[in-house]
Amino acid sequence: MALRNYDPNRDREAAHRIWRECGWLKKGEEEWMDRWIGCGRALVAEVHGEAECLVLTAPGTVRYVDEDLPLCAVTGVTTSRVARKQGLAGRLTAKAVALAAAEGALVAGLGMFEQGYYNQFGFGTGGYEHWMKFDPAHLVVPTRVRPPRRITEDDWQAAHAARLARKRGHGGVNLISPDVTRCEMHGTENGFGLGYYDGPDGELTHYLWCGTDNVESGPYNIGWMAYRTPEQFLELMAVIHSWGDQIHLVRMLEPSGIQLQDLIRQPFKHRTITEKSRFEAAMHAPAYWQMRICDLEGCLARTHLRGEEARFNLRLHDPIARFLEEDAPWRGISGEYVVRLGPESNAERGADAALPTLTASVGAFTRLWLGVRPATGLAVTDELSGPPELLERLGWTLRLPDPKPDWDY
Ligand SMILES: CC(C)(COP(=O)(O)OP(=O)(O)OC[C@H]1O[C@@H](n2cnc3c(N)ncnc32)[C@H](O)[C@@H]1OP(=O)(O)O)[C@@H](O)C(=O)NCCC(=O)NCCS
Repeated sequence: MALRNYDPNRDREAAHRIWRECGWLKKGEEEWMDRWIGCGRALVAEVHGEAECLVLTAPGTVRYVDEDLPLCAVTGVTTSRVARKQGLAGRLTAKAVALAAAEGALVAGLGMFEQGYYNQFGFGTGGYEHWMKFDPAHLVVPTRVRPPRRITEDDWQAAHAARLARKRGHGGVNLISPDVTRCEMHGTENGFGLGYYDGPDGELTHYLWCGTDNVESGPYNIGWMAYRTPEQFLELMAVIHSWGDQIHLVRMLEPSGIQLQDLIRQPFKHRTITEKSRFEAAMHAPAYWQMRICDLEGCLARTHLRGEEARFNLRLHDPIARFLEEDAPWRGISGEYVVRLGPESNAERGADAALPTLTASVGAFTRLWLGVRPATGLAVTDELSGPPELLERLGWTLRLPDPKPDWDY
C-alpha cells in the first residue's frame, strides 16, 4: 500500500469518492473540495492502485503568549469504505505531521472526531470551549449599533485579511491560505456577514460571519468573529442584539478572555423556560481540539513565561514513531532532555543527575506547556508523572491564560 503525494490528475475522482463515502461532499461541490485540498499538502494511500485514504494539512501559526509559532493544521483525515481499519489514516497522518515537522512546523493541531485516536500520534486534548446559545434580545450591550455593511462570499479576501489581523490571545490560530476562509464562507448554510470598514485605509476591521438553517427565526450560528479592540467586539455583540426582534436563538463560541454570560440578562431563568425547546438557551463545553509539540527545542526557545523558573529532566515518550517509516525525515521527539522553563526557556538533549525528573508522553507535555491543565492534574488523568514538589512548582511556572485557538478546522 503506497503512501504518496496527492496528484490531482490521477487522484481527483478518487478523492471526491472518499469524501462522498464519508458524507463530506455534496454533489456540485467538487471544485470547492479541490480548493480546500489546495490550501496545503495532500497525501494519499493507495489500495488496488487507487487512492482510498486522503490526509490534508495546511500551514498556519499558533500564538504562544506573545509569539507566533509555525503550525501544521491537520484539516482532513478520511478513509474510503473499502480501506477502513488497515492502518492507513494513522500512517498517513503520521507522515503528514513528519513532513511538516521536517519543514519547520513547531506544533501540529487538529479537531478530533473522538478522543483517543490522535493520541496515538502524540496529540493531547485542549481545554473546554464554551458554546453559548442565547436569545439575542437578552443581550445587554452598552453599545448602540451603527448600521453595519454586508459581507458576502465575494469579500473572502478582505474577510480573511481581517481574520489574520484580529486580536488573538494565547493559543490563537491563524491558517495562512485565504482559500481556507473562502471555502469556510462558501460551506456555510445561508451564510452572511456583517461588519465595519474602520481601518485607516478603509479596510475591514471587525465583522461576524454567520449561518443558519432557518433564516426567518434562527437559530443563527456565528461561524467566527474578527475584531481588534474590545470596543469592536462590543459593537459586534450590539449587531447580534439588533436581531432580537426576529431571531430567537444565537449560538456562538465564547471569545478568549471574555465571560459571555456576563452579557446575558437572566441566563438561568431562560435556560429553565426554554429547556428542550427548539430555541433552548444553554451552555455546552466540549474539548475537541488537540495539539502536539513537533520540535521541543524550537518551542521552548520561544517560550517566555512570567512565573518562577523551573529546571528539570524531561523523559519524553513520543508514540508517533511506530507509525513512521524507518527513513522518515523526522521520527518524533522521544528522548531525554534537560529543560528550563521561565522568562528564558530551553531544552537540551541529555540529563542532569542533580535535577528532578518529569516523565511524560508528548501529548501530556504539550497540554502542560500550553497551560491546558496544571501538572498536578495531568499527573492524575494523563501520562505525566514526577516528584510532587516538581509538579507543584510547575503549576506556578506555567501560569498561562486558557489557550483558545479561535479557529476550528
Ligand atoms: C476516522 C477514519 C479516518 C479512520 O480511518 P482508518 O483508515 O480506518 O483508521 P486506521 O486504520 O488508521 O485506525 C483505525 C484504528 O483506530 C482505532 N480507533 C478508532 N477510534 C479510536 C479512538 N477514539 N481511540 C483509540 N483508537 C481508536 C480503531 O479501533 C482501529 O483499530 P483496530 O484496527 O485495531 O480496530 C475513518 O473512520 C473515516 O474516514 N471516518 C470518517 C471521516 C472522519 O470522521 N475523519 C476524522 C476527522 S477528524
